[in-house]
Amino acid sequence: MSPPKVELHEIQATVLRLRPAPYYGSHVLFRVDDAKAGHEFLRRLAPHVDSAANWWKPADAWISVAISYAGFKALGLPAESLQSFPEAFRVGMAARARELRDEGVNDPKNWEPLFGNGEAHIGLNAFSDSMEKWQRIVEMAREQLRDLHGVRVLAVQDFGMQPGDRNSLGYKDGIDQPAMEGVGVDPLPGQGNPIKAGEFILGYPGETGVPLPMPQPDILGRNGTYVGFRKYQSRVGAFNRFLHANGKTEDEREFVAAKLVGRWRSGAPLTLAPDADDPALGADPHRNNDFNYAGDTHGRRAPFGCHIRRMNPRDTQLTRLTDVNIHRLIRRGTTYGKPYDPNELSEDADNVERGAIFLFISAKAMATMEFLQQEWIDEGNFIGLGEERDPIIGRQEEGAYFTIPKEPVRRRVHGIETFNVLRGGEYFFMPSLSALRWLGEFQM
Ligand code: HEM
Repeated sequence: MSPPKVELHEIQATVLRLRPAPYYGSHVLFRVDDAKAGHEFLRRLAPHVDSAANWWKPADAWISVAISYAGFKALGLPAESLQSFPEAFRVGMAARARELRDEGVNDPKNWEPLFGNGEAHIGLNAFSDSMEKWQRIVEMAREQLRDLHGVRVLAVQDFGMQPGDRNSLGYKDGIDQPAMEGVGVDPLPGQGNPIKAGEFILGYPGETGVPLPMPQPDILGRNGTYVGFRKYQSRVGAFNRFLHANGKTEDEREFVAAKLVGRWRSGAPLTLAPDADDPALGADPHRNNDFNYAGDTHGRRAPFGCHIRRMNPRDTQLTRLTDVNIHRLIRRGTTYGKPYDPNELSEDADNVERGAIFLFISAKAMATMEFLQQEWIDEGNFIGLGEERDPIIGRQEEGAYFTIPKEPVRRRVHGIETFNVLRGGEYFFMPSLSALRWLGEFQM
């Protein structure tokens, strides 16, 4: 622990607080038809939004609130304020599909109709550690709509922890998060040097030494951050069929599955457990992230193209040089729908409603997401892998493969498909608690 330097009592809890275990919750989207009603809704919600003060202490139930650009317009924010948001935020995630490489099956024209049409104005996220408290907190949020005509619920997407805390493809997740400077907690082993708070929260210096531009006025921008909301459908049948095509025994299949991510499904990293799973290691937060790639410069443990090495290359020597610390996102991943089952092989299993919903949080979430999609997900040149894409979240072309470096010759596994299809997404701004109150009392 070290004394916090950022204004934790101003920042929404979800920015820093980890999801509980077990977790239950809902993402709720609202539309504002009447600006005054929108202000009133925010005014009522604000006292129920937890701050990040003491974020490291276990919490049982909380909500966070974020607003899209269309939402700010619907709330009647003045033009000079609206114009002060970055362009990618203003036009929205769907309009940035090219920059995000959201093409083919991931193209916004294939998204669920709810997304990408400027309808989602306010996003509310409810997290809880028990089913009862989750229901209570969602009910509390709904209560704030009582007698309020002019704000309506567009959609409620429930989520919850799957058995064994596994995600929609059967892996333990939520392990690594970027460490942040000045938030009161020292990094866990392997988290790396703390990154400047301004990379994640507006109003503080970032890695370049200067704060990023904030939406205006200051009361609106300071201690706020951006959220990229992305909903993925997991094609469990395709993923399992791929594993079966590349592994005759369960052990062989688990080995290929581990190589795709860089961790065994238990969470144990391949850099520390290269030959066999070590569930005790996977479960230990003081050990399961305590590695870099210095001892694996040929990718023989964690392949260069595996999901976690792409998403956070740590100290890997990259063909295209960049500072890894300026491309980090805080991830709040949540799973929804039917739990993963390794025995489901049918094509029907691909269409079962299940997958993962992420909140990607950063003071420049739009730019970071575009960078990740263009450079580290749907490409391989930065690690000398040409056209090869991220095997977990890449959008794959016909004939895609994945390279597993090994001695004496590398192995190529074929038949990689798009295992997670994007079903929709939106950009939101998650204001500080003062900004929420300011919006609540806003006079047009
Ligand atoms: C449904 C889709 C996805 C699945 C199944 C998945 C799975 C995983 C798993 C199993 C891990 C390792 C455990 C951990 O550190 O939490 C992981 C880590 C990670 N994932 Fe994903 N992921 C998905 C989508 C995404 C997306 C869309 C992004 C970013 C655009 C992303 C970014 C990351 C990052 C940054 C890490 C941590 C890497 C590290 O620091 O070592 N993931 N993911």
